[in-house]
Amino acid sequence: MSKPSALNEAFSPGLEGVVAAETAISSVDGDQGELVIRGYAVEDLAPHATFEEVAFLLWHSTFPDRETLNRFRIDLSDRQEIEPHTLALLKSAAVRSVPPMDALRMACGSLATRMADAGSASERSAAAREDALRLIATFPVFVATYHRLSHGLQPIAPRRDLSLAGNFLYMLRGHEPPADEVRALDTYLNTVADHGLNASTFTARVIVSTDSDVVSAVTGAVGALKGPRHGGAPGLALYQVLEVGHADRAAAVLAAKLDRGERLMGFGHRIYRTRDPRADVLNAAAERLFAGGRDRRIYDLARAVEASALQLLRERKPDRVLQTNVEFYTALVLHGLELPTPIFTPVFAMARVAGWTAHCLEQMTANRLFRPESTYIGPRNRRITVI
Ligand code: ACO
Repeated sequence: MSKPSALNEAFSPGLEGVVAAETAISSVDGDQGELVIRGYAVEDLAPHATFEEVAFLLWHSTFPDRETLNRFRIDLSDRQEIEPHTLALLKSAAVRSVPPMDALRMACGSLATRMADAGSASERSAAAREDALRLIATFPVFVATYHRLSHGLQPIAPRRDLSLAGNFLYMLRGHEPPADEVRALDTYLNTVADHGLNASTFTARVIVSTDSDVVSAVTGAVGALKGPRHGGAPGLALYQVLEVGHADRAAAVLAAKLDRGERLMGFGHRIYRTRDPRADVLNAAAERLFAGGRDRRIYDLARAVEASALQLLRERKPDRVLQTNVEFYTALVLHGLELPTPIFTPVFAMARVAGWTAHCLEQMTANRLFRPESTYIGPRNRRITVI
């Protein structure tokens, strides 16, 4: 085995602690439990802005004035139509019961990039922005359309007078949603729209760093988000609450999971060594939603499950700080909105696509190809024996 070079000795599994990019989009301080988006604390931004305003902020570092926001909303509405080949793809995926996140990846990959024909740097930048607009505009349409197709229902076309969040609920259900539900969904989308150099954002930046296009970058990012160690956990967190069933059973059910070596879904985070600030924003959103006359038994049960889980994790892993993460309260907000569990992660992607595209545009302005090194630990000097 070869002796590791000085460079190789710096190997950091999972790139933990490695700074791989500079960004002005968002800052995650795991020790302080802070998430800052373009200078705004997530607690201030998420419950008050619309998702369109946050998407614009992520891209341009400034809030749009009223006229610019109207123009931005029209630009998005103009790009919401599903092309026939994508609709055909979603229909055939529905017949085969393809999981919704895979269907979203397929639909995303079926978009033609506008960057293919762009030559100069300014043409590439304009084409990248066009790709980005179409991605944000179409994701809610893809998710709602696929959900309806998988349930044998006709897709519903988006309405030009509704926001992205309002339209999504409308396309899913077939009737206009109440304002408090649109507010809750906007708050959710804003809360998870960007989060530093997480795995899917890193994936997107790596892909555009090769001078590839934004559609390819976002398609790769969707694949990265799917895993339960990243965005695939909120459905699992809800199943865990439902499996507990009653507050009295929480400690026993969760302890049995830990005894089997399972992880408690919705707890722990690679970066946050204190409480995830997004969990607090979404807890407040969930509380408001369930206070609005809805059956709050699941909310109360979830709080009991959370308390039990935190106590068990403190006892079992005293050397780790394992707190409630964003996925736990995501589950409650999305459940409160009566969204079906299988589309929780695709809805996460509808939000994060704003961050992914912002990072792609930023990467393109000061690009350096990502090319880390690896330590070879395999054998050497083998000889082929021809039989
Ligand atoms: N339940 C039980 N034990 C846990 C949990 C958990 N949720 N999270 C971490 N641990 C334990 C591990 O078993 C490990 O213990 P060990 O050292 O005795 O083997 C120790 O804590 C460290 O675990 P790592 O995987 O090294 O920690 P990391 O910081 O990489 O993990 C992660 C972060 C993947 C989120 C992890 O906490 C986890 O799997 N949580 C459950 C899934 C989840 O909630 N995912 C959503 C994350 S939020 C997001 O990405 C948007």
